[in-house]
Amino acid sequence: MSDSERSAQQYDEMAVSYAAENETNIFNSLFERPSTITLLGDVSGRAVLEVGCGAGPLTAWLLDHGAEVTAMDASPRMLDLARQRVGNRAGLVAGSLEDGLDFQPDRSVDLVVASLVLHYVRDWHPVFSEFRRVLVPGGVVVFSTHHPAMDWQLHSVEDYFAVKQVTETWTMLGEPFDVTFWRRPLTAMTAAVSSAGFVIEQLVEPVPGPEIEQRDPEIARRLRTEPSFIFFRVRQQGECVLDVR
Ligand SMILES: C[S@@+](CC[C@H](N)C(=O)[O-])C[C@H]1O[C@@H](n2cnc3c(N)ncnc32)[C@H](O)[C@@H]1O
Repeated sequence: MSDSERSAQQYDEMAVSYAAENETNIFNSLFERPSTITLLGDVSGRAVLEVGCGAGPLTAWLLDHGAEVTAMDASPRMLDLARQRVGNRAGLVAGSLEDGLDFQPDRSVDLVVASLVLHYVRDWHPVFSEFRRVLVPGGVVVFSTHHPAMDWQLHSVEDYFAVKQVTETWTMLGEPFDVTFWRRPLTAMTAAVSSAGFVIEQLVEPVPGPEIEQRDPEIARRLRTEPSFIFFRVRQQGECVLDVR
């Protein structure tokens, strides 16, 4: 079974529970999603490709803020939930990042968004090459992923530099689900970004906002003191620099 087949199967199995949790839980709805949105800037009128869209919470935000969106995901059941949410307002594509982005023409999008999906893929180099191909010159990728120090502490303390496949068990609506992904050091992330011709504009380790502090002081303390997710805004180096802010 390939990694993307495994991820599709795992997300198919927990699709309804994952989508329900993701909608309102602190980590996704109050921390990860707002942090990603802050890096997107003004998306009005922009052509956006969202990879790993899940049940489409960010897809809906992009559409509501005037973007033209194509959204793809490897899990048919997650994509069904996205379809229920956004209908035909976005182009929805079933596909895996491992198989490239053949459905997307060269130089056809201003912005690629990859929220919490890249850690399901072992090798980021072909993925960033595809991002480069589909982006207009000067186009931007915004992505979030597990912080390498968090995954190092949890899964690879004997070797920070290892690129290693790991499985966690997540509890969603009281039920356990296995989730398999790849942990990697920071250098493996930045190497894939720069070898595909992108420069890092922003690398962010956000702190929790007041709403998190109010809702759950203990989670707020953890997010303030321990690494969780890491966020990047990277720009394709090209002659014509487009202002995607
Ligand atoms: C953690 S969820 C994030 C979903 C969404 N971005 C969000 O933040 O709500 C990861 C998503 O990536 C999808 N995924 C996993 N591996 C993938 C791959 N190789 N290609 C495309 N999507 C993938 C899963 O099916 C799942 O919907």
